[in-house]
Amino acid sequence: MKRIGVLTGGGDCPGLNAVIRAVTKSAIHDHGLEVMGIEDGFLGLIEERVRPLSFADVSNILAQGGTVLGTSNKANPSRYCTGYDHAGNPIFEDVSDRVMESVARFALDALVCIGGDGTMSAAAPFIARGVKVMGVPKTIDNDVMHTELTFGFDTAVGTATEALDRIRTTAASHHRVMLVEMMGRNAGWLTLHAGLAGGADVILIPEIPFDLDAVCEACDHRRAEGKSFTLVAVSEGCMPIGGGVVIDRVVHEAFDAIRLGGVSEVLCEQIAERTRLECRATILGHVQRGGTPSAFDRVLATRFGVRAVDMLMSGQFNRMVTYVDGRLSSVRIEEVADQQRLVPVDDPLVHAARAVGARFCGVGL
Ligand code: F6P
Repeated sequence: MKRIGVLTGGGDCPGLNAVIRAVTKSAIHDHGLEVMGIEDGFLGLIEERVRPLSFADVSNILAQGGTVLGTSNKANPSRYCTGYDHAGNPIFEDVSDRVMESVARFALDALVCIGGDGTMSAAAPFIARGVKVMGVPKTIDNDVMHTELTFGFDTAVGTATEALDRIRTTAASHHRVMLVEMMGRNAGWLTLHAGLAGGADVILIPEIPFDLDAVCEACDHRRAEGKSFTLVAVSEGCMPIGGGVVIDRVVHEAFDAIRLGGVSEVLCEQIAERTRLECRATILGHVQRGGTPSAFDRVLATRFGVRAVDMLMSGQFNRMVTYVDGRLSSVRIEEVADQQRLVPVDDPLVHAARAVGARFCGVGL
């Protein structure tokens, strides 16, 4: 092993630069490797945009949000949009051969792929073609299978919690029902953690479809008890019992075309109409993905990056680094691809939230 490539794929999150730094520094310093930075995820291999990374290139980026390499959530080589037909529909082609040509051209002995389930799914076919791959799990959604934590999640929970803290004070001043919508796709981890940390009165997550009457009753009940406001933590992927998610847009070229968003605004109208309470909705959006990583995420990202290089050097390929029971471990990339880790309904956090009075407003919860 002489030269490795590193890429960041999918939506960005705080801590990506900490992994790039850890991979580059440990590869050069501990193992005498050369490191090549691949720009914009797999797009860089499709378009031959690959550049050397030195110590200087990764110096001073530990605390920086985003990714110095850039990223893309539309560049799956097996299903890559190469243009549009006359009706405006995307035309997909398999451009995996271009990736294989880049791997050969830049003499990459292995690829470190930092990403979520989409990036692992995009990487998996190259393992079958003989490319050595190491995965590092990222995402604010914390929904990658077989790892209890992804880096970026802790920072996003902090950001969302701070938002809840801020909205709490204005909620109290105006005696309002305040809905705060958080990201997470179809997984409720971010909303559950932030809802608990921010003391939300109602927590709505995709894994527990809600009963609108129960949500309204929770708001009315608090008012009747003399509580002047209600804080509702809303996951972008939550849905009413028997209903569906609210879709913000469809990004046809992407791995995962559906973009969720807007459920809090729908709920805001419905709750106001039924309870006659004054309601407001705030969608936190991409603010949850930006900013400097928390100390925890910097440590986790650094540990993940160093472990990925150590594993490559000890001949353990085609695995993704994981965090289980407080320790680093790993899993075959194929076991992670195309999967999502959801909140179990009997998760201890659901129990803890209910024990301190939060309502999920689902059947039996
Ligand atoms: O997967 C990360 C994430 O931020 C999700 O929580 C969210 O649903 C989605 O990406 C938003 O994607 P985009 O940046 O393409 O709008």
